[in-house]
Amino acid sequence: MSNPTNLPVWQQLQRHFQDIFPLQMRDMFAQDDKRFEKFSLQWGDLLLDYSKHRITAETMSLLFTLARETDVEQWRERMFSGEKINFTENRAVLHTALRNRSNTPVLVDGKDVMPDVNRVLGQMRSFSEQVRSGDWKGYSGKRITDIVNIGIGGSDLGPVMVCTALKAYASPELNAHFVSNIDGAHLAQVLEKCQPDTTLFIVASKTFTTQETMTNARSARTWFLEAAGDEAHVAKHFVALSTNAKAVSDFGIDTANMFEFWDWVGGRYSLWSAIGLPIAIYIGMDNFEQLLEGGHETDLHFRSAPLEQNLPVIMAMLGIWYNNFFEAETHAILPYDQGLSRFTAYLQQADMESNGKFVNRAGERINYTTGPIIWGESGTNGQHAFYQLIHQGNKLIPCDFLMPLHSHYSIGKNGDEHHHILIANLLAQTRALMQGKSAKEAKIELEAQGLDHHTIMNLLPHRVFGGNRPTSTMLFDKLDPKTLGKLIALYEHKIFVQGIVWNINSFDQWGVEYGKQIAQKILPQLTDGKLTCDYDESTNKLIDYIKSQNI
Ligand code: F6P
Repeated sequence: MSNPTNLPVWQQLQRHFQDIFPLQMRDMFAQDDKRFEKFSLQWGDLLLDYSKHRITAETMSLLFTLARETDVEQWRERMFSGEKINFTENRAVLHTALRNRSNTPVLVDGKDVMPDVNRVLGQMRSFSEQVRSGDWKGYSGKRITDIVNIGIGGSDLGPVMVCTALKAYASPELNAHFVSNIDGAHLAQVLEKCQPDTTLFIVASKTFTTQETMTNARSARTWFLEAAGDEAHVAKHFVALSTNAKAVSDFGIDTANMFEFWDWVGGRYSLWSAIGLPIAIYIGMDNFEQLLEGGHETDLHFRSAPLEQNLPVIMAMLGIWYNNFFEAETHAILPYDQGLSRFTAYLQQADMESNGKFVNRAGERINYTTGPIIWGESGTNGQHAFYQLIHQGNKLIPCDFLMPLHSHYSIGKNGDEHHHILIANLLAQTRALMQGKSAKEAKIELEAQGLDHHTIMNLLPHRVFGGNRPTSTMLFDKLDPKTLGKLIALYEHKIFVQGIVWNINSFDQWGVEYGKQIAQKILPQLTDGKLTCDYDESTNKLIDYIKSQNI
């Protein structure tokens, strides 16, 4: 299969789209009191309601056929079994082995990777327990009170997202900080909160060459040595998470303080690896293992459930329905949980770096759209910012609403006042987006307010809601480590399935390299005296202007 749009089922979906497009979800609900039953799926404590979508049973059946005919099931096995499906980098894609709690052998080039995975997990346990218990002492003999993760992209977003989500499980004796941006303000503002003798720096970089991370790490080291004085103290305050032992050692970190992972772990899939060390220190290794457990449960589900009852497959195929047939360009992720405030940012990398591709696996330009723009914000903040456009704008934006049934925090009247308001808001939004408000309904409301006919007729067009805006609702019991592990892995596999259907390599990221190359070249030009002439006129003039301002 090279082009999914050439498959007969794709043409069938196109014809089917013409039938579905004019239909209103509110009518579909009115005509079928079993709609929720038909289009929802309970898996453990997780409930996915996808009945508020512009679908019928036929839509889903065609979409599952598309998944089958694009060989999703075969590719799934190829991934799990360690085949080098990331062919542009000649790598296996085995983040699933990192959370393989069944410990069954997983072979790469004929070698079982599980002993190495378990060895590093053991190293993480031992180290995280020493830091948490206070046995690991800084150079002045005091315990570590602050950990600073220095990394970017996949070496930052996963740990920061999980530590934010699971703050309720964190050790009260530890503060976790994350520095990613090369803007010196980021590091400087974190260092203002830390003391050199009680701070542990975790330098997280798969390649250990990333400009931002290396520069931040060098500056952190200078800051540290200004106080500590002696190079020998670095060993107590700097550890590395990387695949590149040589670069770690060249940087001056003893490889005994390095936590290893491997080239078959993609950066954006690496929170399950040694990159998760800040998580293990912050919430404890037992909780980190629960996170892995959750990811593993999703793997088992994804690998074995029939496509029709397979959560990531359902999520993926709904995404394809809107992306490729309705031509929706974006997809909003709207978690109703403050802990998940970094979840959307995390998924932006997971999804957009994976599926933002314009050539297929054969290297040919493709004539259909691939990865959507992922965006969003936690509820209810988003409601007061951009929901207006989702409700009444003229773009179709499929949305995922996620929410725990129970909060970690007991606050407000009866201890659950806030959470009840949160729940009510989520339900109200998905209901309003689906149902809309017709002109007739809006008119009745305005009349009830006692307005005169002229005012009503002026206001009416503005008070109508088209509705028919698709949403998925994902409910779960509580945002605990295991559930979070399940959620992350569900989205990872959703992204995988979409990449397979689109026939792209979801595991490389060449698109981020070009800008990095140019930045390396511009950097020395900013400080030399010559006028710039290497680029287009705009870039040349901008560089010269910046130089003229004595930067
Ligand atoms: O921005 C591209 C990227 O390669 C991401 O894929 C990766 O997560 C990030 O940079 C950081 O890379 P590293 O962990 O090697 O520093």
